[in-house]
Amino acid sequence: MTDAPSGAALGRVTYLGADSTHDPSPQIGFGIDVGGSGVKGAMVDLRTGSFVGDRLRLDTPQPATPDAVAQTCREITDHFGWTGPVGITVPGVVRDGIVRSAANIDASWDGADIQDLFGKHLGGRTVAGLNDADAAGLAEVRFGGRPGLDEGTVILLTFGTGIGSALFHDGVLVPNTEFGHLEVGGRIAEARASAKVRKDHDWSYRKWSGKVSRVLAHYERIFSPNLFVVGGGISRKADVWIPMLTVDTPVIAASLRNTAGIVGAAMAVDEGLRM
Ligand code: BGC
Repeated sequence: MTDAPSGAALGRVTYLGADSTHDPSPQIGFGIDVGGSGVKGAMVDLRTGSFVGDRLRLDTPQPATPDAVAQTCREITDHFGWTGPVGITVPGVVRDGIVRSAANIDASWDGADIQDLFGKHLGGRTVAGLNDADAAGLAEVRFGGRPGLDEGTVILLTFGTGIGSALFHDGVLVPNTEFGHLEVGGRIAEARASAKVRKDHDWSYRKWSGKVSRVLAHYERIFSPNLFVVGGGISRKADVWIPMLTVDTPVIAASLRNTAGIVGAAMAVDEGLRM
């Protein structure tokens, strides 16, 4: 970490119990996951990928403009007394610190400079912004606890309002893949098979899994992955719909649920990942 956490934040390290007395510099980071309905943040033990204390969720301000969301992030860090570096997920492309798409968030995010924006609201600390699915993927590969996630080509997909994607080869992330925006049969994938589309049409899992299979088959043809990992809220029902999929590539459910984005964001800023 580049910035030391404040005394107040360090005080919270005692949550770790015995461990923290053995390790004079416990690695605590902070991640914030910006979603369409909630902005969620927590301190993260970077060695285990678990939260240190509770997670705080605040409603996403409406309209969810960059300034309004950044101010909500400030409220979250203040709540924890955290003044150190912060990783923040964005539901869009983040390249060279600039947000470059805004499909499922206020259009004014397109072009936002993460460091300028959050520098204004969070002070001069180190802030890293990255795509939400990339963050979830980073956390899953590191802390998902399953063998094979860091071998060959692995595609993690999050099914929610849109379809997020994270592409890994031998555990290395290729950021900003946006597979949810690939065209499959004349429509973008997320307009065919996101969890929102299932809900909007009140489709059964069987019907929806047919749409997901079509999308995955397309990804299969292009990328020949070794494994798909599916996440997002709908992965709670993965035991119902994964067996209905008709693709050749193995598909497993992500094991980290609503912690993944926060943990991945904290990892990204801690490791100085360049997006
Ligand atoms: C966005 C992606 C995002 C995904 C999940 C898509 O519409 O383009 O950047 O990862 O939704 O939030």
